[in-house]
Amino acid sequence: MKRSILVSGGAGFIGSNFVQLLLRQRADWQVVNLDQLTYAGNLENLSAIEKDPRYAFVQGDICAQADVARAFAACRAPVAVVHFAAESHVDRSIQSGLPFVRTNVLGTQVLLDESRARKVERFVHVSTDEVYGSLGASGKFTEDTPLAPNSPYSASKAASDLLVRAAFHTHGFPGLITRCSNNYGPYQFPEKLIPLMIANASDDQPLPVYGDGMNVRDWLYVEDHCEALLAVLERGQPGEVYNIGGNNEYPNLAIVRLILATLKKPETLIRYVKDRPGHDRRYAIDAGKIHRELGWEPRFRFEQALPRTIQWYQANSLWLQRVRSGAYRDYYARQYGRS
Ligand code: NAD
Ligand code: TYD
Repeated sequence: MKRSILVSGGAGFIGSNFVQLLLRQRADWQVVNLDQLTYAGNLENLSAIEKDPRYAFVQGDICAQADVARAFAACRAPVAVVHFAAESHVDRSIQSGLPFVRTNVLGTQVLLDESRARKVERFVHVSTDEVYGSLGASGKFTEDTPLAPNSPYSASKAASDLLVRAAFHTHGFPGLITRCSNNYGPYQFPEKLIPLMIANASDDQPLPVYGDGMNVRDWLYVEDHCEALLAVLERGQPGEVYNIGGNNEYPNLAIVRLILATLKKPETLIRYVKDRPGHDRRYAIDAGKIHRELGWEPRFRFEQALPRTIQWYQANSLWLQRVRSGAYRDYYARQYGRS
């Protein structure tokens, strides 16, 4: 079936993996990528497919109605939206919450309004398990766990989830919400735990571990997340929430040690630093609903996918270097002759 998928935030980590997966797996779909290219947006992530006639890039801000309208105008067939664009880093949200409220809350409402006006087929809102808050030593988040976000980032994502929910209940808008655990894999900006530790260890730089290093996250390989999103896009029920997780809990310190061991670097590189304020202790996801209803489960095992991720960063050291130096931002000007 011919379809246009409007992807917001497709130049970021998960969005760029998703755009590539769609073009690989759905031959007759067109993908329009609306991205503002903030510090986290990197068109180099998409250099392999940028000349594909089924792909179009629109630089724009989801908070600006005119930019969203331009992206819709580039779509050629019935449209579905997959909404990734967000400010996504907890530490940045602790420094300043405003950009998070602007993009994650206001931007989501603009995208919802423009999508509703055009009667899109579906709108998949890509959210996070962090909206549920923090767990103790046992238990898992289900889709019925009450929302209790603890950081400005997770609070802004919870607000955007509620706007999607309200659009469904008020207007019958075909919104679906996914809540995924921590992702890892190629093209992740090296401010998040795994790529930061790989980058620092490779350069023999200290590895900053917050607090006692015993905070637990449930890690999912990005390709598994993208396949789950495709399943929700094609077969999910509008109005429903789907948790997505890897059933793969690790304390941060264990991840850091694994990275050091894989890179054959000494544990003396570990530096315990001041804890993150309000640091959530543990996240764990019950992903039973998406497994039962849509048949999705992760394909990648951590034991293989973490070394594979480390190898990707080693093989793409130039990408990493350019991201870390800020030079990746010149790509747009070089590629498109604009700035
Ligand atoms: P990212 O920070 O790597 O990418 C975000 C992208 O959004 C960038 O390309 C950026 O340029 C774009 N963007 C930001 N503000 C914009 C705006 N106003 N208009 C248009 N584009 C804008 O993020 P990511 O890690 O790929 O996460 C994508 C989505 O998945 C987010 O909504 C995030 O909350 C969610 N999520 C992430 C994880 C994770 O582990 N990374 C886990 C669960 C959910
Ligand atoms: P992060 O990758 O920022 O994801 P999130 O906060 O959304 O879960 O952090 C993952 C875990 O790693 C979290 O418990 C904080 C910790 N962490 C460190 O210990 N040191 C660091 O330098 C970073 C960036 C994170």
